[in-house]
Amino acid sequence: MNPSRRPLIAGNWKMYKGGRTGVELAQDIVKSSHSLGSGVDLVIAPPFTVLAAVASTVEDSSVQLAAQNFYPKNEGAFTGEISPSMLKDCGCAWVIIGHSERRQYFGESNSFVAEKVTSALANDLVPIVCVGETLAQRQANETLRVVEGQLNAFIDIIARSPHAVAIAYEPVWAIGTGKVAGPGEAEEVHVAIRKQLAAKDEALATRTRLLYGGSVKPENAAALLACANVDGALVGGACLDAASFSAIARAANR
Ligand code: PGA
Repeated sequence: MNPSRRPLIAGNWKMYKGGRTGVELAQDIVKSSHSLGSGVDLVIAPPFTVLAAVASTVEDSSVQLAAQNFYPKNEGAFTGEISPSMLKDCGCAWVIIGHSERRQYFGESNSFVAEKVTSALANDLVPIVCVGETLAQRQANETLRVVEGQLNAFIDIIARSPHAVAIAYEPVWAIGTGKVAGPGEAEEVHVAIRKQLAAKDEALATRTRLLYGGSVKPENAAALLACANVDGALVGGACLDAASFSAIARAANR
C-alpha cells in the first residue's frame, strides 16, 4: 500500500444472503467496524433484494454500500433490470462493474463494461471495475496483454472523469478456488496497470486505487496488502463471515 491512497476493502456477497440473513451479516459487519478506526474504507455489495434494508443497517456507520451490477440506462422498458439512479435511491455509493462472472456467464464485453463505467460515473456511483486473465491466458503468457486490453476499453472514460474510481485485478483462476496469486504475481500486474494509467495521465495513476481479488483470506491479506501497488482487496467468500471480513480490513488498516 502507498500512504497517499486510503486502503479500500470491498466485500462482494455474490448471490448469497439476499434477505434477513443479509441484514444480520450487515449488522455484524457494522459492529466489528467500530473497532476498526478510520484508516480504511469498508464497502459491502449485497444482492439487490436486500440493498435497501442493508442501507438502513449501515446508515450511521462508516460502512458504505455497493451494488454488484446494474443496467446502464436511467429508466425504461427493461424488464428485470435495475438502473443506476435506483441504486443511488436506495443508498448505494459504489458499484462493481465487469466482474469475471458477469463477463463469463452473462456475456459482458469490454464495450458493455465501458458503457457501464460511463453510466455509473454520470450517476455519481463510484465504479469498482474488474479485470483479470483466465488460467489458459496466464499459461499462454498473455496476462499483461489481456489486462491491458480490458483496461484500454475504459481508460479514456476514467481519465476524463473528475471522480476517482477503483480497479480490481482479479485473476479468474484465483476466484473462489482457494488459489491465491502470490504477492509477487499480484504486484507485477498492479505495476503494469499503474504504468498504463500513468502513461495516460499521472494524476489518474496516483488517485486510482488498485484492489486485488481472488481467494483473499485473513491469512494471506497482510502479505498482499504489503505490496506497494495493492491499495485494497475485493473479497468474495471470506466477506460472508463478519469476523473474516473485519480481519482483512484490520490487515489493511495497519
Ligand atoms: P473470492 O471472490 O474471494 O471468493 O475468490 C472474489 C471475487 O469474486 O470478487
